[in-house]
Amino acid sequence: MKVSKRIEELPPYLFVRISQKIAERKSRGEKVISFGIGDPDIPTPDGIIQRLCREAKVPANHRYPETYGLPEFRRAIAQWYERRFGVVLDPDKEVLPLIGSKEGIGHIAFCFIDPGDIALIPDPAYPVYSVSTMFAGGEAYFMPLTEDNGFLPDLERVPPEVARRAKVLWLNYPNNPTGAVAGIDFFKKAVAFAKKYDLVVCHDAPYTEVAFEGYRPPSFLEVPGAKDVGVEFHSLSKSYNMTGWRVGMAVGNAQIRDALMRFKSNLDSGIPQAIQYAAIEALRGDQSCIEEHNAIYQRRRDRIVKVLREVGLRVTPPKASLYIWAGIPDGYTSAEYATKLLDGAGVVVTPGTGYGKYGEGYIRLSLTAADSEIDEGLECLLAWSRSQASRK
Ligand SMILES: Cc1ncc(COP(=O)(O)O)c(C=O)c1O
Repeated sequence: MKVSKRIEELPPYLFVRISQKIAERKSRGEKVISFGIGDPDIPTPDGIIQRLCREAKVPANHRYPETYGLPEFRRAIAQWYERRFGVVLDPDKEVLPLIGSKEGIGHIAFCFIDPGDIALIPDPAYPVYSVSTMFAGGEAYFMPLTEDNGFLPDLERVPPEVARRAKVLWLNYPNNPTGAVAGIDFFKKAVAFAKKYDLVVCHDAPYTEVAFEGYRPPSFLEVPGAKDVGVEFHSLSKSYNMTGWRVGMAVGNAQIRDALMRFKSNLDSGIPQAIQYAAIEALRGDQSCIEEHNAIYQRRRDRIVKVLREVGLRVTPPKASLYIWAGIPDGYTSAEYATKLLDGAGVVVTPGTGYGKYGEGYIRLSLTAADSEIDEGLECLLAWSRSQASRK
């Protein structure tokens, strides 16, 4: 049997490799504490689950859903965007529910990339942007995100001949993996750049609700003209701890939304309706869970940053997102350093190069392990660091 080239060329999905390493250690009876994947440990708020359970008993919800979602869900999304960001959306033309935002992020490449076209993609970045571009036969042009530029791509440095061949510009703020944030000024530049080169902007924004010290990340769609050129992907995964329920949305430009809807409707049959009702409950219900979760993440962030600095890593506390992006000491690659932490301290972190070559020199830690696990992991890191120091 011969698999297609696109499957042959596929690097193994980063977290699958990490899960394998964890399983190997566990099978040897060794304890492993994971700061790997960004999957909230705190359960979905009870009111949302109660609604899900009620709706699961309604026979109408046992049937195929529509790809484009329940009208009431689309309205709830539009109302949430207006309340949260002051962005007005037409629920019928500018809102598309997704089976988790990853689904839409993966599929949109097929709507705008033909073989030979370019997608402008940040590096480091969530790997799905470049993999889906490759699946669609396109090429990725990587825009470096570095500490010097605040982990924002320098659009002026994209060569004009590349920009002219490009069809899509990917952005993601608050950013995974760097934890960087972008302001309205940066989004304005992105809109102007997209208009100049006729690009579709895909802003991936699942972390706007995970922010600290009162910071409120903006939506790309707040910028005048953004809707002319782009869509924003959002998700209930991180805002309401709903990663397991798979529900998100693409909102913004009607033509882009329509292209994605047409593509999707040929492949999937939408989100189970009981889950859509649970999502309505999340968006319309009591929002206090967001602040409660952020207070927990902020405490974890501060504890982890303190210990990482003691261990000798370079860290700026993130203003938003679920991630700490830590600069490692000289003399190691990020993969070597991550392996050293796993073998020496039993702690799993993600090597920065898992997100692209400009991730070299960094590791990523997520804030989504339980408090007791984090305490134990930090103790292991400190003990390991002391043992290293005593050997010198
Ligand atoms: C930057 C980014 N975009 C999208 C997603 C996908 O989120 P979901 O499919 O759960 O909505 C993730 C998940 O970790 C992410 O980090």
